[in-house]
Amino acid sequence: MELSSVLPCKGCISWQGLLVTAFLWSCGPLSTSAQPTIESVPPIIPEGGSVLLLVHNLPENLRSLFWYKGMIVSNNFEVARHIITMNSSVLGPAHNGGETVYSNGSLLLHNVTWKDTGLYTLRTLNHRGVLLTGLFLMASSLSPCCNPLNSSQLMIQPIPQYAAEGESVLLQVHNLPEDLQAFSWYKSMHSALVLKIVEYSRAMNSTTWGSAHSRREAVYTNGSLMLQDVTEEDAGMYTLEILNRDFKIDKADVHLHVNKPVKHPFIQVTNTILTLHSSVVLTCLSAGTGISFRWIFNNQSLQLTERMTLSPTKCQLSIDPIMREDVGEYKCQVSNPVSTKTSLPVSLAVMNK
Ligand SMILES: *[C@@H]1O[C@H](CO)[C@@H](O)[C@H](O)[C@H]1NC(C)=O
Ligand SMILES: *[C@@H]1O[C@H](CO)[C@@H](O)[C@H](O)[C@H]1NC(C)=O
Ligand SMILES: *[C@@H]1O[C@H](CO)[C@@H](O)[C@H](O)[C@H]1NC(C)=O
Ligand SMILES: *[C@@H]1O[C@H](CO)[C@@H](O)[C@H](O)[C@H]1NC(C)=O
Ligand SMILES: *[C@@H]1O[C@H](CO)[C@@H](O)[C@H](O)[C@H]1NC(C)=O
Ligand SMILES: *[C@@H]1O[C@H](CO)[C@@H](O)[C@H](O)[C@H]1NC(C)=O
Ligand SMILES: *[C@@H]1O[C@H](CO)[C@@H](O)[C@H](O)[C@H]1NC(C)=O
Repeated sequence: MELSSVLPCKGCISWQGLLVTAFLWSCGPLSTSAQPTIESVPPIIPEGGSVLLLVHNLPENLRSLFWYKGMIVSNNFEVARHIITMNSSVLGPAHNGGETVYSNGSLLLHNVTWKDTGLYTLRTLNHRGVLLTGLFLMASSLSPCCNPLNSSQLMIQPIPQYAAEGESVLLQVHNLPEDLQAFSWYKSMHSALVLKIVEYSRAMNSTTWGSAHSRREAVYTNGSLMLQDVTEEDAGMYTLEILNRDFKIDKADVHLHVNKPVKHPFIQVTNTILTLHSSVVLTCLSAGTGISFRWIFNNQSLQLTERMTLSPTKCQLSIDPIMREDVGEYKCQVSNPVSTKTSLPVSLAVMNK
């Protein structure tokens, strides 16, 4: 069953946690311990609900851990910290009153609204150094009751939903009231800074550009905003605010996704000529964030056996012990929502002892 089909229609917005893989540490030097990952529980949350950002594989001998809103790891953006040695939790300047951090690292967000969307970064500190892991909470419009053709609610649909850098995106507005007085578009630079892009007054039939205007936008009287030649910096939250005839304000938000096409990955391998029953580690290297990995064996999707292990982000494949049936050609494939690229093949051979 689709998760979205059981969502209540409240607010017509739901939130979704997306693991930001390969965030800073991607697949670096081989690490013996598993790296932490963050999961949003539940994966989809109705507006006003609670979400637990559950941390798995917390590093050992941890001294402290910190949660930040956004990717800037500085005191101003700290949501909360937990000092393990003292078993004490402290909220930071970026908290909004609805967060709890647990001694196992997990962060609970109560009463989520669109203001809570964005990147959450976990920083862990032990004697071996600092590790950053991220989770992106985004607004998703998966809910079928949010079908714009079937609702009177003001809403925005990005076309296309996932844009590659350099493309144009139309933020199409549905159900704009006929008798509105004015509307404005805003861009959230980060959780604390919201800037105006443009304001349109119907009475004056006039358009006034704001400080977040990049000269690559066009606005239409039906409310829609066109963004041309988008870059990754354009990604983020956009808000449309309208002033109705009776001076009531209505708002709708949308998250714009912009991705660079992924770079060609390549495979790093410990050894390509192996002794039977020895082990091998293949690492797929690719720059960028939000990438997913897939392995290909002899031009077919790799079928995992019990002798194979994938790292949490799947960028690393270990085979132990190696058998004759593992001999062949390996490739890795990396994808993001706008592109897919495959590495050159690496051939593994087995020699007799
Ligand atoms: C840490 O404190 C919490 C309550 O604040 C308590 O429930 C927990 O058992 C403590 N953990 C340790 C390891 O002392
Ligand atoms: C961490 O603690 C929270 C609250 O007690 C709990 O819900 C969660 O399951 C714990 N996480 C792990 C990984 O044990
Ligand atoms: C959630 O937010 C709403 C509106 O801000 C408030 O009225 C309500 O009390 C909050 N609920 C909780 C459990 O914090
Ligand atoms: C419109 O909404 C109703 C319930 O509000 C639902 O039964 C119906 O399937 C929806 N139609 C579409 C096209 O989403
Ligand atoms: C508003 O102004 C635009 C040009 O700026 C014009 O094309 C359009 O017809 C005007 N609309 C109305 C309703 O006057
Ligand atoms: C609004 O106008 C733009 C430009 O003319 C058009 O592409 C878009 O489809 C219109 N949106 C709606 C909901 O009609
Ligand atoms: C995989 O496909 C490529 C291109 O079609 C071909 O050159 C290569 O020999 C194939 N490899 C295997 C192991 O089948």
